Amino acid sequence: MDGDDKYLLKFKGYNFARLFVDINFLKNLDDFETRDDDVFVITYPKSGTIWTQQILSLIYYEGHRNRTEIVNTADRSPFLEYNLHKIDFEKRPSPRLFASHVPYYLAPKGLKNKKAKVIYVSRNPKDVLISYFHFSNMLVTFEASNNIGEFMEKFLDGKVVGSLWFCHESFDHMRGWYEHRHDFNILFMVYEEMKKDLRSSVLKISSFLEKELSEEDLDAVVNQAVFQNMKVDPQANYDSILKNEIGLRTKGHFLRKGTIGDWKHYLTVQQNERFDRVFQRKMKDFPLKFIWEI
Ligand code: A3P
Repeated sequence: MDGDDKYLLKFKGYNFARLFVDINFLKNLDDFETRDDDVFVITYPKSGTIWTQQILSLIYYEGHRNRTEIVNTADRSPFLEYNLHKIDFEKRPSPRLFASHVPYYLAPKGLKNKKAKVIYVSRNPKDVLISYFHFSNMLVTFEASNNIGEFMEKFLDGKVVGSLWFCHESFDHMRGWYEHRHDFNILFMVYEEMKKDLRSSVLKISSFLEKELSEEDLDAVVNQAVFQNMKVDPQANYDSILKNEIGLRTKGHFLRKGTIGDWKHYLTVQQNERFDRVFQRKMKDFPLKFIWEI
């Protein structure tokens, strides 16, 4: 663990958001007691976490689908390592939903023993980069960057919360989870596929969770999980949490654009070529394909 960065806390090679994380919790993370019916959404930041949290909550809670129980996403499926509301996880009734950005090697051993289910969501890393640039500049708890180029270098070096998206020794995210997929009870979802066909994606998730949805339920889930509806849903859009609990440096929204290929509006030709070279070098033998544009 090093302790000299205002924003990042490095623990076992991985960068956590210093201001939200409880180091004592991290030290015991390995032994965190998972239950068979726990479900974890795991992502690299800015890959569709909040979206999948919303889908899970809608699948699991009838009161969410029919809007009779108004509960914030952060409380329906809290972050494991960033427990903002200090929820006592042990006291939560089953089935428990969680979100997390941890790399595979820091996952509680219960997950590695296939206790609990994992849904890993990936997104093309150029859109992750652009989303992350805006997000870090917006929040007081992240380091701001003057421009995309500056942020891109931090991202490519893994000097951000979540460390490296790319593969590098064992400290990588996407590849780590993928290469160790046989250790987990895991479903891989792709942000861009969810965007292209949300209905099929919800069905895929519900079938993995063995949760059968009626047509009416399915409609309710899809309807409340589309970007436009989540963006105006105070329980789902995190606006109040960002503003009142975390603090905004500049105006903005967690649900910013929710599109595929936004990177084209931001990266210069040179930046894009540099990104492609790094991607080629580090990911060329990676079997999963990424969707870069519509
Ligand atoms: P953008 O910044 O590109 O808009 P995470 O929750 O992992 O931090 O990811 C946040 C990104 O997911 C943001 O991307 C956000 O807008 C997008 N997102 C959230 N809900 C979405 C939805 N229902 N449909 C599409 N994108 C969504």
